[in-house]
Amino acid sequence: MNKRILIIFYSQTGQLKQIVENFAQPFEAALNEVEYLLIEPEKPFPFPWDNDRFFNAMPECVTDKPIKIKPLSTRHTKYDLIVFAWQPWFLSPSLPAISAMHSEVISKLIENTPVITIGGVRNMWIEGQERVRQWLNKNKALHVGNLILNDKAPNLISAVTVQYWMLTGKKDKMWGIFPKPGISEKDISSAKDFGFIACQSLENDTLGELQKKWLTMGAVHVNTTLMFIESRAIMLFRIWAGIILKKKNRELWINIFRYYLLFALFIISPIVVVLFTFIIRPLLYKKLAKRKIYAEGVNLPG
Ligand SMILES: Cc1cc2nc3c(=O)[nH]c(=O)nc-3n(C[C@H](O)[C@H](O)[C@H](O)COP(=O)(O)O)c2cc1C
Repeated sequence: MNKRILIIFYSQTGQLKQIVENFAQPFEAALNEVEYLLIEPEKPFPFPWDNDRFFNAMPECVTDKPIKIKPLSTRHTKYDLIVFAWQPWFLSPSLPAISAMHSEVISKLIENTPVITIGGVRNMWIEGQERVRQWLNKNKALHVGNLILNDKAPNLISAVTVQYWMLTGKKDKMWGIFPKPGISEKDISSAKDFGFIACQSLENDTLGELQKKWLTMGAVHVNTTLMFIESRAIMLFRIWAGIILKKKNRELWINIFRYYLLFALFIISPIVVVLFTFIIRPLLYKKLAKRKIYAEGVNLPG
């Protein structure tokens, strides 16, 4: 077919790398030119994390402050399709993803070009995806596909297992009893199926129909309870980020935030879930349904 596809990504654990490589397989099998553009921070984020470094990433993620990345260069100046793969950190695009979004090279490349976004997430991605979508709009990209692969374990369980994974570097069953952290092998490998349909759509010039097809395959799963929690949590994160960025003793305030987050997650959020289920959801049913459809969609009109 000989189309040019550019895949932009960062992956700390290798999970998102596996996803984009699976996604690219059908394009490569159909003899397209697939090029990867890896976002490399000048100062790499060591993996596994320790507690201090992990929570220290929050203020800059939330307030959209890029880090220094290695210079970016691509073989061509124009592509038939660009894939922007990203992961959320603290309900925001990760710092490497933010830096890619601030790059002039990438912002120019996406102009008037079909773009597919792929999120490799735990389960809270909607606020981050909105920032990605605003960036695509601002740079006149044609957003044709939105694929979100997530950890399917219940929220509190995956919050525990993702911490275990991030702080130990082990993607195995914590204490032998918890489910494996992250996106399941089956879902990671399903990226191939989504890639196959995207490749066909590119070939037939029907990328405008792609998201509709993908949704029938389960490309995005919006949990309205988590969507509601996330929309409130990001407001609080912004307040925390503003406070922390102004403080001289940042370390102390990051630690206070860390304990606040544990409290919010394990004490406040279960109460919010009960209130949401019995009071808020019935009251805001229509509004939530509309937001769900928006989150499942792409920026293209119609
Ligand atoms: C600092 C940090 C914060 C994270 N915050 C979120 C989050 O808010 N929502 C979410 O769904 N996943 C979150 N994750 C999980 C990541 O989005 C991602 O799925 C995981 O780190 C896999 O890494 P990789 O994509 O770099 O390979 C977070 C991970 C890190 C390291």
